[in-house]
Amino acid sequence: MTLGLRSHHCGDLRTTHVGQTVLAMGWVDRRRDHGGVIFVDLRDHTGVLQVVFKPEVNAEAHGLGDSLRHEFVIAVQGRLAPREEGNVNPKLATGEVELLAERLEVLNTARPLPFAGEEEGVDERLRMKYRYLDLRRGPMQRNLRLRAHAARIVRSHLDAAGFCEIETPVLTRSTPEGARDYLVPSRVNPGQFYALPQSPQLFKQILMIGGFDRYYQIVRCFRDEDLRGNRQPEFTQVDLELTFVEPEEIFALIDGLFARLFRETIGVEVPLPIPRMTYQEAMDRFGSDAPDMRFGLELVQLTDLVARSGFKVFAQAAAAGGQVRAIRVPGGAQFSRKELDELTEFVAIYGAKGMAWVKRLDSGWQSPIAKFFSAAEQNAIEQRLELREGDLAVFCADAEKVVLDALGNLRKEIARRSGLIDERAFKFVWVTDFPLLEYDEQEQRLAAKHHPFTAPVVEDLERHGASDPLKIRARAYDIALNGVELGGGSIRMHKPELQQRVFRLLGMSEQEAERRFGFLLEALGYGAPPHGGIALGFDRIIMFLVGTASIRDVIAFPKTQKAADLMVQAPADVDDRQLRELGIRLRRP
Ligand code: AMO
Ligand code: AMP
Repeated sequence: MTLGLRSHHCGDLRTTHVGQTVLAMGWVDRRRDHGGVIFVDLRDHTGVLQVVFKPEVNAEAHGLGDSLRHEFVIAVQGRLAPREEGNVNPKLATGEVELLAERLEVLNTARPLPFAGEEEGVDERLRMKYRYLDLRRGPMQRNLRLRAHAARIVRSHLDAAGFCEIETPVLTRSTPEGARDYLVPSRVNPGQFYALPQSPQLFKQILMIGGFDRYYQIVRCFRDEDLRGNRQPEFTQVDLELTFVEPEEIFALIDGLFARLFRETIGVEVPLPIPRMTYQEAMDRFGSDAPDMRFGLELVQLTDLVARSGFKVFAQAAAAGGQVRAIRVPGGAQFSRKELDELTEFVAIYGAKGMAWVKRLDSGWQSPIAKFFSAAEQNAIEQRLELREGDLAVFCADAEKVVLDALGNLRKEIARRSGLIDERAFKFVWVTDFPLLEYDEQEQRLAAKHHPFTAPVVEDLERHGASDPLKIRARAYDIALNGVELGGGSIRMHKPELQQRVFRLLGMSEQEAERRFGFLLEALGYGAPPHGGIALGFDRIIMFLVGTASIRDVIAFPKTQKAADLMVQAPADVDDRQLRELGIRLRRP
């Protein structure tokens, strides 16, 4: 027996449907037996419908109804009826009606589940192993449906702005974005490998040379890197590229996109334009290139004031070309000794050798370093910090990089501990004028800060190229939200000579440049238009929209910290025969 096609979704039925014959299908959410009358909550993705099995309505259905268990899949036909007065459930959209079962078909049974539908705090490894059960539950249903909605908004926004959606290859060659590549061996070219793209960077530039004017793609990218809370080995970018473009145009386009995404999915208005700040200012004030603007606690430069002070730690840091900076914590004089010790341990994570502090009491400074400063020096420091009675100041002296990193993270930690963060606020910021290069300590050489195709500010290149290349600014920008980098992009080099010059600056020989990027250099020589673009981390955007701290909550089939899929059990061993075909012999550890 089959009952036929479903007539309605469970969550759609209302009093207007009363009297109609309904055929509903779904899962048994709950079953209760009230003195011979069986109540079943029938669930599908739209909601829950109460189904009632009464012996006097249909004895056969009632008999079968008795055998139903949690998560059985059923089809029920019956007449929709209003619920009796006392049984109306105002919390349920379908709470005024119920289905009086006349026929029941059990489409599938279910074994007892490893975790219950509404259960919270289920072990994440269990959720990932039984991902299909996790996906059935409310939160994952909501998250992935919102994700799909967001993707529709992205497409609608970019389509309206004249963008063309184009797919680029997944089997390709290395695209340097600063992570390791995932490699795929080629069977037909033994000993050779494809790399999965870290981003479609070079293809989108080639598309501009190919005359597409405006390209976008919601695209999977692959990076073999250390996984943290908001990183996955495969993740999704909203990737785009435009010709004849200036950063302003990209900012306006992306401003509009974020405004629509936040308004149309969660009803939040993003004030436009999104504020902008140079990299230098972001580092100086917040110690980060993705500043969290939801609270103050800005960094204050004190090096000039304390360079000649009697506190050796400060004087020596200044003499060695380092810095002394501080953060004023309003009302922070309340901090206990224990809290200050914890904060000192916290900055040590970032390489700081200590954290000096001053409590400003009505009697003056209470501080282990008070004795090293004259009244005039104390006064000058107070003025600079705008330190008032009841405040705390914390200091860090070290190389600039350490000071910024330590204090940049410390301000977030203090804000967290002191409850200074408005969890409902969304503070976007564009960070512009990034440096072109950075020093790679591990490799002991200059590396591209963004990627090697980002255009330098040409005046900077002329002025500092030979003497101090770290001073060269790039035409690169990032967008950050609440201290998280959401996206980044740049204007690219469209002339082969300039691109070659930057490759040289990166220490790449002409042969190496030719071997790795010869196709790009050649393409740039055939009338490449000026172009630039950006890529946004789509998963990270969805994390903000649904309000989760875990990127795994916005991806249907995510991977663990060890880059494993616990459901299908990937990665996995392969047959010897497959390896032989690929010409690969394993070196077992
Ligand atoms: P970038 O490397 O900055 O730029 O990447 C863009 C954005 O992608 C997101 N992202 C990630 N999200 C989740 N997991 C990861 N492992 C991960 N890595 C990056 C971030 C990041 O801001 N081709 C350039 C863009 C361009 O120049 O146009 C690029 O890929 O949100
Ligand atoms: P000391 O004289 O070593 O006992 O240090 C006095 C105070 O200065 C302590 O609170 C230390 O935490 C702090 N301190 C030590 N090194 C540094 C540093 N590099 N930057 C800031 N404070 C420091």
